[in-house]
Amino acid sequence: MPRLLKLPGLIDIHTHLRVPGGEQKEDFATGTRAAIAGGFTTILAMPNTTPPVVTPATLAATRRQAQPAIFCDVGFFVGASPAHTAELPALAAAGVALKIYLNDTFGPLRVDDLPTLHACFRNWTRAKPIAMHAEGQSVAVGIGLAAAYRRPVHFCHISRRDEIELIADAKAAGLPVTCEVTPHHLFLTDDDAARLGTFGDMRPRLASQSDVDALWAHLNTTIDCIATDHAPHTRAEKASETPPPGVPGLETSLPLMFTAVKAGRLSLARLIALMADNPRRIFGLPAQPDTFIEVDTDTSFTVSEKGLQTKCGWSPFLERELVGRVHRVVLRGAEIFVNGTFVAPPGCGRVIG
Ligand code: NCD
Ligand code: ZN
Repeated sequence: MPRLLKLPGLIDIHTHLRVPGGEQKEDFATGTRAAIAGGFTTILAMPNTTPPVVTPATLAATRRQAQPAIFCDVGFFVGASPAHTAELPALAAAGVALKIYLNDTFGPLRVDDLPTLHACFRNWTRAKPIAMHAEGQSVAVGIGLAAAYRRPVHFCHISRRDEIELIADAKAAGLPVTCEVTPHHLFLTDDDAARLGTFGDMRPRLASQSDVDALWAHLNTTIDCIATDHAPHTRAEKASETPPPGVPGLETSLPLMFTAVKAGRLSLARLIALMADNPRRIFGLPAQPDTFIEVDTDTSFTVSEKGLQTKCGWSPFLERELVGRVHRVVLRGAEIFVNGTFVAPPGCGRVIG
């Protein structure tokens, strides 16, 4: 029997579950199975669905549809949209946080005008966070809004040296900003992008070795969270003439980070802060009593398509040797997952927020 390490249930604050409208890529059952298999007992779902989650009716319908299908707890982001800023107070009752897309990525959600930004900051409750997709100088826009409105702003998937250095400076100046980085931006570079083709294409794009080095240098200080940005697309979509950006990550993130712990690149305590404690604190997420995961700390395995729960069925990390596979997951005292098998029914997770 390999040595099993007990850890708290992990939290992924950046998952694309694709319901409604993208069920060929992922659905509530397959996405939350992938989460549990990756050690996550709480995930936050992104709003760039079809239709996007920008109205109380869509949010309510999506929450209703999720409840009977999910294997882990799920909170839902609300998307910022110029046409729906008046509905933000109503949306805040059931959404966990507001997501503002300042830069182009998959889906139509985008905010590129100042009146909408003002409306978002005025209308979204101060009790719940604002998260931003901001690349390059858009990060400075977000920092400016955090300063002007004196309220927290969380930056999604920071990937460049100058971005992380700017956030470090903003934090040193006392501004209420936080940030996440993804495992793919920590473990892959633009060399891998060339090798992987569209299967290594996402937003933000993979970066240079210097950018990757800067992220690692800030892992114990400026970076608050690891988030997967699990963004599944089908193989056929990725191989098409118009490949959408995004890569899956729920099932590889903990093993990648745990392998880095074994290699001495970060401490186990820091991994827990980045993947459980800080996400819970920043997003004000409920505690999960009697909830834990057991991780196999000895047996190395090769990432392969066969073992994956995600409906998309591929990974940018195929063929990698990793340690840190999840052996067992217990949620609120109930066994959910043991040795690769789900032993609880769908609906054992809860919709939160
Ligand atoms: C995401 C997706 O596919 O929804 N794609 C991506 O490249 N990361 C959108 C996003 O998070 O920007
Ligand atoms: Zn995303």
